[in-house]
Amino acid sequence: MIREVITYPNPKLRTVSKDVVAFNDELHTLLDDMYDTMIAKNGIGLAAIQVAVPLNVLIINLSREDESKEVVQVKEDLIEFINPTIIEQEGVCTFQEGCLSVPNFYEDVERAKIIKIRYFDRAGNEHIATYDGLMSIALQHEIDHLQGRLFIEKLSYLKRKKFEKEWKKIVKEEKAKK
Ligand code: CO
Repeated sequence: MIREVITYPNPKLRTVSKDVVAFNDELHTLLDDMYDTMIAKNGIGLAAIQVAVPLNVLIINLSREDESKEVVQVKEDLIEFINPTIIEQEGVCTFQEGCLSVPNFYEDVERAKIIKIRYFDRAGNEHIATYDGLMSIALQHEIDHLQGRLFIEKLSYLKRKKFEKEWKKIVKEEKAKK
């Protein structure tokens, strides 16, 4: 079931989420709904707080190229991260980010290049994994959501000013559509 995605400046997005303690049907329904919501909104990642649930749950489903070089998003690539913690990080890189909670705005953000994380899957099994590239970036973006932070807060003063200007325009345009 598709849930509503809350957007900036909704104060709920500032909530620090809590760890999942029960790996039960309720969690599985949340994960399934998050997947439906992310796909419906053309996202590659989603944190539970974006559907107003303050739990340390996030999902990522990157796109890939199929045999005919077409970019596709396949459910096989979906990874569910529950109670994720970054245990090591290395290097620096910059990537243009966007967010379903800050629609239609994209900007370069600096983050660690490689991260090692500990997390649990929906059955409650613990995993440790190391990620590089877009997966590392997406994870850091979503983990920030769990800590009540948005990517726009990582922008420099000037870029933040640019965001505020553009955001007013985006909101105006959205209102005009309705
Ligand atoms: Co986001």
